[in-house]
Amino acid sequence: MCGIVGYIGDKPVLPLLINGLKRLEYRGYDSAGVAMIDQDKIWYKKRKGKIAELEVEINGFDLTSSVGLGHTRWATHGEPSEKNAHPHFDTEHKIALVHNGIIENYAQLKETLKAEGHVFASDTDSEVLVHLIAMCYDGDMAFSIRKALQLVRGTFGILVLSTHEPDKLFAARRGSPLVIGIGENETLVASDGSALVEHTRDVIYLEDNEMAVVNKHGAKVRTLQDTKVEKAVEKLPYDLVHLQKGGYPHFMLKEIFEQPETVWDSMRGRLLVEEGNAKLGGLQSCIDRMIHSSRLILTACGTSWHAALIGEYLIEKFAKIPVEVEYASEFRYRDPIISRVDTVLAITQSGETADTLAAVREAKQKGALALGMCNVVGSTIARETHAGVYLHAGPEIGVASTKAFTSQVATLALIALALGRMNQLSAEEGREIAQALKQLPDQIRQILEQASHIEKIAAKFMHHNHALYLGRGFNYPVALEGALKMKEISYIHAEGYPAAEMKHGPIALIDDQMPVIFIAVKDSVYEKVISNIEEVKARGGWVIAVVSEGDKACAKLCDEVIEIPYTIQSLMPVLTVIPFQLLAYYTAVMKGCDVDQPRNLAKSVTVE
Ligand code: AGP
Ligand code: GLU
Repeated sequence: MCGIVGYIGDKPVLPLLINGLKRLEYRGYDSAGVAMIDQDKIWYKKRKGKIAELEVEINGFDLTSSVGLGHTRWATHGEPSEKNAHPHFDTEHKIALVHNGIIENYAQLKETLKAEGHVFASDTDSEVLVHLIAMCYDGDMAFSIRKALQLVRGTFGILVLSTHEPDKLFAARRGSPLVIGIGENETLVASDGSALVEHTRDVIYLEDNEMAVVNKHGAKVRTLQDTKVEKAVEKLPYDLVHLQKGGYPHFMLKEIFEQPETVWDSMRGRLLVEEGNAKLGGLQSCIDRMIHSSRLILTACGTSWHAALIGEYLIEKFAKIPVEVEYASEFRYRDPIISRVDTVLAITQSGETADTLAAVREAKQKGALALGMCNVVGSTIARETHAGVYLHAGPEIGVASTKAFTSQVATLALIALALGRMNQLSAEEGREIAQALKQLPDQIRQILEQASHIEKIAAKFMHHNHALYLGRGFNYPVALEGALKMKEISYIHAEGYPAAEMKHGPIALIDDQMPVIFIAVKDSVYEKVISNIEEVKARGGWVIAVVSEGDKACAKLCDEVIEIPYTIQSLMPVLTVIPFQLLAYYTAVMKGCDVDQPRNLAKSVTVE
């Protein structure tokens, strides 16, 4: 959620901060601000709305400072407004602070601070932090920050600058990511590597309860208990090209069209086609423990949770190990029964989702094997799990997850295949699955060629306010995902259901105004789905269906069809989801929606 960027070096800081904030825009935000040290004072500007507006506001200021920080806020406490935008300041205006996260005991702290004469300028929880630091200040900023942070409950990633020590920045985290970029005579701090990569790829990841004192020559890291920590400098696994639209009008469209490559990148070197097997380096050390687990629990949120649902079907079918799927947000709070014989696999694109992280910690606490499937290398969940597997799908910038989903499903299929071959899956079955996996990239390419056909369907679809997405078996989670994509970016109300559930309620909604979107591919439930289509048609519904190539009979029954190539039933979701991504994309564009940064959403949800 929201973004932090800071710079200390020799260059004028203002354009660097604005540029850094723009790189973080994709995470979702409602206001922005910057602050810097200018001639022994703190200069700042804040704005509600987009960074472009902040940029207009600061245009013409010729400030030469080379120490500063910036923030994009995603409001949790207090409405989006200029006064609530970060940075926040102490009463004497000597300290500036930006914060990601939530301070849970802020109300109580605020009362105490007010009683001591601190004057508050915002409604945020964050502002208490800067007043607390000022209250604790005794001539040493690092000490004061440590002392202040001992008084707070909740999550934070903070960056602080002060006229007390103008040649330093102070960064600390608990539960909200921060990464430090080490350049030549310049050091940067950001909540996400994408704000750093055009300056340096050498980074230090801050862990929970660590604080860095940063100057232009690097960073010194200590724990919040003041113990020195030696940090390794790591390399960001991508460069600037990955963060650009590459000629596409939106990141989302670029990412949809990248899927033939990204799905292959997830399988490259892991899929053993000849042997009909898969080998996942990151899981090798614990594959035995996985196979002997009493069950696998897949936990995730949002789109990743939909991938987990498909993972359940895949692993149970190929490997015959019982699987349960849980929303991470439920799992963490319901005191789940888990033990040493269980394996918990957290699926997350960002690797930072607060609920998923909490589920991982709960699983570890109870002795389970905790594994991660992340896209973002070096993310918190990637580092906190016992072992894991990366998606290698490259940075996903569009808030609506697309390529991460197909890579998650492909990677889950690899895990299911590897576990299956250790259990009951024959070599012949393994080879059939491996062959089918290998063909997926070309088949995705074929579906993408129908983009303009799907765009035409979107032109009709955009006039509706509601839609039902229906699928069965492996394609039921795809119905959920299709509906989620549509509501996230086009704001059309869409619901996904298992097709057979329609008659238990949703059928009441069907009239000639109701688009019903079916997945009716040739699989073991095909006939049943056709009956469901008949039921909708009988009530005047408008049917769009994703069907198997050449299925004339189904095409006759439906108002619109999108044909997809044949693959085995268990891998269908990787193909059936593509038309839904495109349908959501074109519908949203035609409705004039901000596709890459839909309202109210954040790319990585680091609050509960
Ligand atoms: C997907 O389009 C959503 N924006 C959202 O549901 C997302 O999948 C969810 O927040 C989980 O994120 P993660 O995969 O980074 O953990
Ligand atoms: N809780 C803080 C606020 O509402 C920080 C939100 C954020 O992470 O951007 O201002």
